[in-house]
Parts: sequence; structure tokens; C-alpha cells
Amino acid sequence: MIGVFDSGIGGLTVLSHIRAQLPDTPIVYLADQAYAPYGDLTHDRVIERSRLISQWLLAQGCTLVVVACNTATAVAIEALRTGFAIPIVGVEPGIKPAALQSLSQRIGILATENTVASSRYLLLLERFLPEVEVLSQGCAGLADAIEQQSDDLDQRLRRYCQPLIDQGVDQIVLGCTHYPLVKDRIALLVGPQVAIVDTSGAIALEVKRRYQPPLTGPVVGAPIRLYTTGSAVRFDSLMRSYPMLAWLQDLAIAELTLRS
Ligand code: DGL
Repeated sequence: MIGVFDSGIGGLTVLSHIRAQLPDTPIVYLADQAYAPYGDLTHDRVIERSRLISQWLLAQGCTLVVVACNTATAVAIEALRTGFAIPIVGVEPGIKPAALQSLSQRIGILATENTVASSRYLLLLERFLPEVEVLSQGCAGLADAIEQQSDDLDQRLRRYCQPLIDQGVDQIVLGCTHYPLVKDRIALLVGPQVAIVDTSGAIALEVKRRYQPPLTGPVVGAPIRLYTTGSAVRFDSLMRSYPMLAWLQDLAIAELTLRS
């Protein structure tokens, strides 16, 4: 069984790709909505939440954990890899594919402020400098606006994308797993001359490569179990609102208390 977690519904964009790669593998997904957004938490708090959730996923029988959150990966993955003896797969902004595709050699990254301020992210950037110019745009409140379906979502998207367009990027990397949910709206804003880079598919391939199925063989039509530390009703209505998540909408959602 594979465990996947995020601060909210964003990690479901990664789960969708994992399901496509491993249709016979049971998956447990936890949205830590009572503690979201992670972009606003201190680093210590993100590490504490990530540890607690990983422990819980292990207790459910998961033998691989996917940190389907760029912020938690940037801040907590080293602590998780040190603390747990199973494979921990994280996500990170797709700077490499963007750099390979870019003609202008100028790319933009949209991510939470916690991600762009993390030392892991800065180390990742260093690998591509100076050949590529990377413009990092911290998007305060954007993941939360997607979770809350805020009326000002398009305004926020414009505020964060426009400076990147003005500076001539030809690639925009989605560095937060919530952002693929509004990829179409971003595409409309930035126009066809800018490619939008999302690495969820590549993460799913990495999960497939590293996951060791149990010897008992595949469970055909394996279940997906969904949990939230917040409200199941709100989680359900969000899944119904974003077309990318429509295929999940008839699954039951359980509420879970996971106090630090
Ligand atoms: N999906 C999370 C990420 O990829 C959202 C972070 C947040 O909750 O602020 O960074």
C-alpha cells in the first residue's frame, strides 16, 4: 500500500498520476486540512506534521510514502528519510525539464513562500545557474485560495504570473501541487507562448520504480482511501468543483484527528 499526503487537496493531482501508473495498488491519502496551508507554518511545524502523518501512514500498512506537497518536501523530507526506514518520495519544482525546453533560458517558478525560501530549493536552483535564469515567485495565499475557491483567485494568479511574463519567461513551473488544479486558468492568463511545466507524471513514474508490491500479488480494483484532518463535507465539495478530481468524487472521505 502507498501512502500519500499533502496539506490539502493538491496532492490529489499527484495521486491521479500514481493511480494511472499503479491501478492495482491500494492507496491511502491524507489531506492535513486542519493545519493548512503549510506555506504559512513554521519549518518546525511542517516537519512535526510530516513526521506525525508519515507515522500514521506506516501504521496503516503503507510501505512507501509520497510527500505530495512541495512545501513539506522542501522543508521536511530529510527529516523523514532519516526517521523512517521505508522509501519516501518527494516532489520538487520541475526546473530541469523547464530549462531543457526553454528557448529564452529564462524560466519562472510559482511556489509557496516556504518552498522558495528553503535551503533545499536554493540548492536545486544552484544546479542550473548561471546557464538558466530562474525567477522565483513566492505565491502567498494561492494554495489556500484554491482550497477555499476564493473569488479573488484569478486576481491572485494575475498578480503572480504577470511579473514573470513581463520579464520574458517562456516556461512557468508549477512548484506547488495545488497549482495544476488551476492550470487551465493559468494557461489562459499567460497565453500560448508560455509552456506550463507540471512534474506530477514524472513523480508517479518514480513511485512506480521504487514501490515493492507485496508478495501476495495485485489486488484488482484496489481501493483508494481518503482521509482529512478537516471537514469531509468540504473536501467532498472541493473534489466536485475541480474537473481534474471528478473521477474521485464518489469515494467516501473519513475525518481523522491527528494532533501534534
Ligand atoms: N500543495 C502544497 C505544496 O505543494 C501546498 C502548500 C500549502 O499548504 O501552503 O506546496
